[in-house]
Amino acid sequence: MKILVVGSGGREHALAWKIAQSPRIQMVYVAPGNGGTALDPHLQNVPISDPAALAQFVIQENIALTVVGPETPLAAGIVNIFREQNLKIFGPTKEAAQLESSKDFAKAFMQRHGIPTAEYQTFADVKAAHDYIDQKGAPIVIKADGLAAGKGVVVAMSLDEAHAAVDMMLSDNKLGDAGARVVIEEFLDGEEASFIVMVDGKNILPLATSQDHKRLQDNDQGPNTGGMGAYSPAPIVTPALHAKVMREIIQPTVQGMAKDGIPFTGFLYAGLMIDKSGNAKTLEFNCRMGDPETQPIMARLKTDFLTVAEHAVNGTLNEIELEWDRRTALGVVLAAAGYPDAPRKGDTITGIPVETADYVTFHAGTSFAGGKLTTSGGRVLCVVGLGDSVKMAQRQAYAAADQIKFDGMQFRRDIGWRALKRPG
Ligand code: AMP
Ligand code: GLY
Repeated sequence: MKILVVGSGGREHALAWKIAQSPRIQMVYVAPGNGGTALDPHLQNVPISDPAALAQFVIQENIALTVVGPETPLAAGIVNIFREQNLKIFGPTKEAAQLESSKDFAKAFMQRHGIPTAEYQTFADVKAAHDYIDQKGAPIVIKADGLAAGKGVVVAMSLDEAHAAVDMMLSDNKLGDAGARVVIEEFLDGEEASFIVMVDGKNILPLATSQDHKRLQDNDQGPNTGGMGAYSPAPIVTPALHAKVMREIIQPTVQGMAKDGIPFTGFLYAGLMIDKSGNAKTLEFNCRMGDPETQPIMARLKTDFLTVAEHAVNGTLNEIELEWDRRTALGVVLAAAGYPDAPRKGDTITGIPVETADYVTFHAGTSFAGGKLTTSGGRVLCVVGLGDSVKMAQRQAYAAADQIKFDGMQFRRDIGWRALKRPG
């Protein structure tokens, strides 16, 4: 059987790597892929990005199903285009992807369906936004309504920062259309976790829990990034909290979307803020898997993911159960010089260790040409270690990471610190 994975990041390398382990796989295509998917003999890169052209490729190659990684093609309607041609694809339609592509849509949806989230209001008018900030005080959070590649959220600790964020988005138009409306919301305190499930329109299949690290430097210092490391499971998500999140957030979301006439299919990722009493609120929805959360999650999944994906596109996710490696998986992102503001490209990468049962390296911003592997993006690699404890998984990940070399390499030394700090 032939499968297509859409995307080029570490998330897509991990998905393709996992799918390729199925004994029924003939070929996994990755569009456009990266240096790692180019080097893997079980995977083949396809230099096509346009959704309509990809649909043609799928027909021509007789590809059985497509799994979409990133939000951009989803928000652009790749699922709608494929379905119009009766092609099987796992992901949300353009309409359902609004849960991620419009913060205002997501907030209004949560309010309408009683899903716990921060109190908010949406503004297009600059003065009204400034007045609201003065009325509410700081800390307060300003979010661009649209997709802004991770640059659309300002957690303002002071009134000055909050007003500046509004001016940046609404007056100076720095984020273009994405910032033409802003959501201003209550600041929530607590610990974040990533809660990711698969949805076939009706049935929900939760994946293993995870947590990522958004700041660039150790001790959560420095600028926000797409994620500098992640691990699974997330010990903060106890079985009791898991049940509560399913009951109060995930099920009402899936049922609410169906009720609103926009049934959700695809990966649904609720970014949670968990307070000291163990109550969770939804910070955001993503309509895709997390990156780098996917890398440790896929490293732990034992079930054949091709079978899972087939159930997902056939609407029978209720018929399977997932089996997980009981070990912890911990992924460390190796980023390029200058990441996140201005990542440098073209540095030669050496020393990536051969995959073992204890670690595996997924590529993201890499390219392979002329027999040479070089950096080509901000987050370059994610090294995942597995171990019987968080500490042992961390040791494996760093043992592998320390063998890898490229000029200007940046990575955190403390991935997993929250889990390590927990009693017991
Ligand atoms: P988002 O893209 O909405 O998840 O926001 C990006 C990051 O901003 C989150 O991962 C949080 O770290 C932070 N954040 C977002 N909303 C809030 C909030 N209401 N209170 C505190 N921090 C927030
Ligand atoms: N790691 C966070 C995200 O994928 O949105």
